[in-house]
Amino acid sequence: MFEALIRTIPDYPKPGIQFRDITTLLQDKQGFAAAIDGLARHYENNTFDKVVAMEARGFIIGAALAVKLGAGFVPARKPGKLPWTTISQPYLLEYGSDALEVHKDAILPGERILLVDDLIATGGTALAAVALVRQLGGLLEQAAFVIDLPELGGMQQLAAAGVQGFALCQFS
Ligand code: PRP
Ligand code: ADE
Repeated sequence: MFEALIRTIPDYPKPGIQFRDITTLLQDKQGFAAAIDGLARHYENNTFDKVVAMEARGFIIGAALAVKLGAGFVPARKPGKLPWTTISQPYLLEYGSDALEVHKDAILPGERILLVDDLIATGGTALAAVALVRQLGGLLEQAAFVIDLPELGGMQQLAAAGVQGFALCQFS
């Protein structure tokens, strides 16, 4: 169902990349609500203190899911965007490299964290966020995505780091 609401753009942002565009899902009021409901249902027996989500598309899914789960929200941002003292973690992407930062007081030791993003590909972004959360003492064992690109192996990378990933749909 979700696959049909996600647009694929060939050769964006680089030749050879099949870009999975969630804006078509977000602009569909039933589709967006169903996506957030579907993720929330998966975690109905869990309790999280905070959702950590990655800039930029992760914010859209993560903030909506945090409200639904009754959790706080922590943005993991691209370099230089957060105003206070941060910790930083570089990572590689399917189409480049980047870094993520969080405020150093965003997570308290022992807090239960759900990681959220729109999509997992290589897992580089997610693993950078896992490293940040754990550096601050957060407990992170679950991660939620709208889309998994299984051929890029991100879910296995997460599993190897002790994080169980869940995605609403997959594209091969
Ligand atoms: C995309 C996507 C994930 C990441 C997944 O973000 O939203 O965060 O790539 O790729 P990975 O599993 O290989 O790390 P992007 O860095 O393009 O940033 P954006 O959300 O700001 O567009
Ligand atoms: N992030 C990494 N790979 C991606 C893809 N193929 N489509 C959308 N976002 C991505």
